[in-house]
Amino acid sequence: MKFPRNKSCNYNFRSKLGASIDKGRTREVFNIKDNPKYVIKFSTNPSTNRHEYKFYKEAKRNKLTAVLNSIGEIRSISKSGQYLVMEKLNDLPFGNHATQCPDEITDRKRSNFGVDSDGVIKARDYDTRNGKTVSGKLTPVVFSQDEQDYFRDLLDDLDQL
Ligand SMILES: Nc1ncnc2c1ncn2[C@@H]1O[C@H](COP(=O)(O)OP(=O)(O)O)[C@@H](O)[C@H]1O
Ligand SMILES: [Mg+2]
Repeated sequence: MKFPRNKSCNYNFRSKLGASIDKGRTREVFNIKDNPKYVIKFSTNPSTNRHEYKFYKEAKRNKLTAVLNSIGEIRSISKSGQYLVMEKLNDLPFGNHATQCPDEITDRKRSNFGVDSDGVIKARDYDTRNGKTVSGKLTPVVFSQDEQDYFRDLLDDLDQL
């Protein structure tokens, strides 16, 4: 499967947009045509995509395997930064889960994590925004299917309106 070439023009990415999956605070996420394993993340403001790409690239360059196994794989970013191709990570299954994520990730809400095709939990929204470089350190995260968690996500959603 071919991907829109890294650092290429918006059109290469836009022409691959499939159905919309969901929206977050800044980005809308779409299926990518003819490829069930990846998604395209779009925002008119490129900063979040750029941070994520930089974080992934840095982890890759430093061969930080544990970090790479805990964040969504990135295949390419548009020259504008508005489009980013990331591995598809479906919502966490109902119930309680425990995993590890890079220290630098601060927004550890349930909806920012997903499972890959092997069932491994990975961060799918890892804009750190604090500009920290990748330390390689991981920290435990717990997702509990309880009221608190439910209300936390609800409040986050209200925040976005
Ligand atoms: N890699 C992904 N695979 C599948 N769905 C995703 C992926 N990344 C994000 N999503 C979905 O899109 C929503 C918004 O994406 P997110 O990265 O959290 O954007 P924002 O930076 O605006 O918060 C997520 O809450 C999730 O439902
Ligand atoms: Mg998010």
